[in-house]
Amino acid sequence: MCGIVGYIGVNDTKDVLLTGLEKLEYRGYDSAGIATLNQEGVHLVKVNGRIAELREKIDPTIRATIGIGHTRWATHGKPSVSNSHPHQSVSGRFTLVHNGVIENYDEIREHYLNHVTLKSETDTEIIVQLIEVLFDQTQDVLAAFSQAMELLTGSYAIALLDQENPDLIYVAKNKSPLLVGLGENFNLVTSDAIATLKETDTYLEIEDQEIVLVERNQVMIQTLNGTVVERDPYVVEIDAGETEKGTYDHFMLKEIDQQPLMIRKIIQEYQDHTGKIKLDDHIREAMAEADRIYMIAAGTSYHAGLIGKQIIEKIAHIPVEVHIASEFSYQMPLLSEKPFFIYISQSGETADSRAVLVQTKALGHPALTLTNVSGSTLSREADFTLLLHAGPEIAVASTKAYTAQIAVLAILSIDVANQLGLPLDFDPLKELAVAASVMESLIDQKDMFKGMATDLFQTTRNAFFIGRNLDFSVAQEAALKLKEISYIQAEGFAGGELKHGTIALIEKGTPVIALSTQENVNLLIRGNIQEVLARGAKTAMISMSGLEKEHDTFVIPQVHPLLTPLVSVVPMQLLAYYAALQRGCDVDKPRNLAKSVTVE
Ligand code: M6R
Repeated sequence: MCGIVGYIGVNDTKDVLLTGLEKLEYRGYDSAGIATLNQEGVHLVKVNGRIAELREKIDPTIRATIGIGHTRWATHGKPSVSNSHPHQSVSGRFTLVHNGVIENYDEIREHYLNHVTLKSETDTEIIVQLIEVLFDQTQDVLAAFSQAMELLTGSYAIALLDQENPDLIYVAKNKSPLLVGLGENFNLVTSDAIATLKETDTYLEIEDQEIVLVERNQVMIQTLNGTVVERDPYVVEIDAGETEKGTYDHFMLKEIDQQPLMIRKIIQEYQDHTGKIKLDDHIREAMAEADRIYMIAAGTSYHAGLIGKQIIEKIAHIPVEVHIASEFSYQMPLLSEKPFFIYISQSGETADSRAVLVQTKALGHPALTLTNVSGSTLSREADFTLLLHAGPEIAVASTKAYTAQIAVLAILSIDVANQLGLPLDFDPLKELAVAASVMESLIDQKDMFKGMATDLFQTTRNAFFIGRNLDFSVAQEAALKLKEISYIQAEGFAGGELKHGTIALIEKGTPVIALSTQENVNLLIRGNIQEVLARGAKTAMISMSGLEKEHDTFVIPQVHPLLTPLVSVVPMQLLAYYAALQRGCDVDKPRNLAKSVTVE
């Protein structure tokens, strides 16, 4: 979490910093600040609010060609001006922004900084104060910076300004993402290339425990002990327009709408010229050799894993366990003899998932990452990567990444089934294309779901989504979507489980939304709806054509039974979107959240 931008060039830096930070707000938006440096010294502006407020507070007449900026998701210390970044050393010589968590900050404070009066409650401030203390001993900034990095444990992406040197930004990283952008007469640093695509499409990766010296016309990477590292830059293939809202009011709605097109793109990306599925041979072979697959993920990606499990088990006949990353790390189950790990992460940066990847790599188990971000940490560190091809997902609430993850997992399972010689009784790519068309037809009926959201959620404090089989997993995703953006307390429940306790919460008017897309449980889930109706619930039934009954609220056109989540989730996403909108919530930037969760 937190976003960093730094710029050093010949033009004024404010606009690059502010525009970049606006694009990084998905990483956190509790508070923000920038520091620019010119011949008069460092100009520091911080707000306990968003980038729009920061923009207003900045004096447009102050010009500088070097600067750093930060948008914060609070970990240590509440959102406030004093806790927001950049932080300065006591003398004011050093100014620093940081993304990550310093685990040994108490130790460092006691050991090195007991004479320093700290101005904030953050773990970040100790870094800049430590650098100054070490500099006072050596009078060598680079040596102090490197030494400080060696002393830190935890995660960090750091950019540092030295008031005495307007020609250099000191940069370092460990576990948290940070890139260097390369330009003509300028260079920059950024947490994510999408923030600075307007400036450049050429970037240099920074590895963990490296230091980078960023000047206007030169960038030097070195290890903590001073060995110079040569690395080729790469070109980012994202159209800057993809990171704009365009005619939409919210990224979330744009991203919901993009799903049919995205599914078609995924089909295209993963088929060869004969129309057959084509994946990396090594992935197929490694997976086909496994006696058990372990999927590791968080949030919506975890929910996609639950669907992926059903698809893989049914198509490729390999047993699958799906685990919440933050639990797996600290309570690893007994593993099978030949496990294969699949990490599912839209951002590819989720710290909880990465912690597991580090552990399973150390155990020597093969790992595949399914991610939307090529070059992301989880992608680089796994043996294999499959890209989601969903295009940048900016809204905090994940929508298109979920359906992309399911589609790619379906393709993967079919590829493995082919490898294992397992027969298929359907044309998978054709069925995915059908699902894309059905998604389109649902998206065209937005007004229907808008009305439904008004009816169900306008005043309620809680809501239940129920389903059985695959619909249960979609119900869990539906509940997450609703709660994270509308703040309505919502639960996704297995229809049959309600009567074992939770039905006690149903009272007059409680919204219960049921999904019925699976033939073998159609009658059972309808029975569950009767049970809650009898207790006064306000119900809605969304069923699949062929299973519908009179008075169902909405009937989804038929798709292959294993692919129903791709389509049944769309009404759920739209219901959440309209509920949040109608309740006046900040749809794209819900409170307390951030898009990329880089702390454990
Ligand atoms: O980038 P990841 O897919 O690893 O992110 C995992 C979760 O943080 C994410 O899905 C989160 O639950 C979303 N905000 C849900 O909409």
